[in-house]
Amino acid sequence: MRAVLTAGPTLEPIDPVRFLSNRSSGKQGYALAEALAALGFDVTLVSGPTALNDPPGVATVRVETAREMLAAVERALPADVFIAVAAVADWRPAEPSAIKLKLDKSGHGALKLTENPDILQTIAALGPEARPRLVIGFAAETHDVLDHARAKRVRKGCDWIIANDVSGAAMGGADNAVTLMTPEGEESLAQAPKAEIARAIAERIAAALGA
Ligand code: C5P
Repeated sequence: MRAVLTAGPTLEPIDPVRFLSNRSSGKQGYALAEALAALGFDVTLVSGPTALNDPPGVATVRVETAREMLAAVERALPADVFIAVAAVADWRPAEPSAIKLKLDKSGHGALKLTENPDILQTIAALGPEARPRLVIGFAAETHDVLDHARAKRVRKGCDWIIANDVSGAAMGGADNAVTLMTPEGEESLAQAPKAEIARAIAERIAAALGA
């Protein structure tokens, strides 16, 4: 069985010395990649910039931007399961400058943004030949976590969504608590180290695929 995952933040250049990014550490995605490899999956992890070592037994591809991440995922397919764990920047500077920008005194109009591709939505919308059998997204939310996550599962066209509350220390922290949402129902996994959450999710993926 083949699994492809994204993890970590993306980094979107503004100019040679500045970028837009976010606080994702990559820990949950790396732990899930490792847990799937431990169950015998052939795993490719497409990772944004993180401080973590490549997980053992996992083919890790390092990228920076959302567009590079999508291209690397497309190269890594076909797969039986795709899991989008990365915190992808929704927007990027429209025209990254080749030279260091100097803001005028007002600071206005310096940064024009343009929308990044949605990797999860793109993979979920692939035709039956190319689409992984199971497409899974994460929904990191700070409020109305379950409602936002339910809506996101439908909007993104993925099969499962894993909701996690990032109003506390989950983002960058060692622990996580998640709710697994599938067409069959919802299951909460109580707060635990990210490696333990990863093992539980990996087991459910293996069971769903008959692996
Ligand atoms: O950022 P958002 O809450 O929409 O992310 C939900 C899910 O969509 C996550 O699984 C994330 O990895 C994925 N995503 C993506 N490409 C984007 C934005 C989000 O794959 N541009």
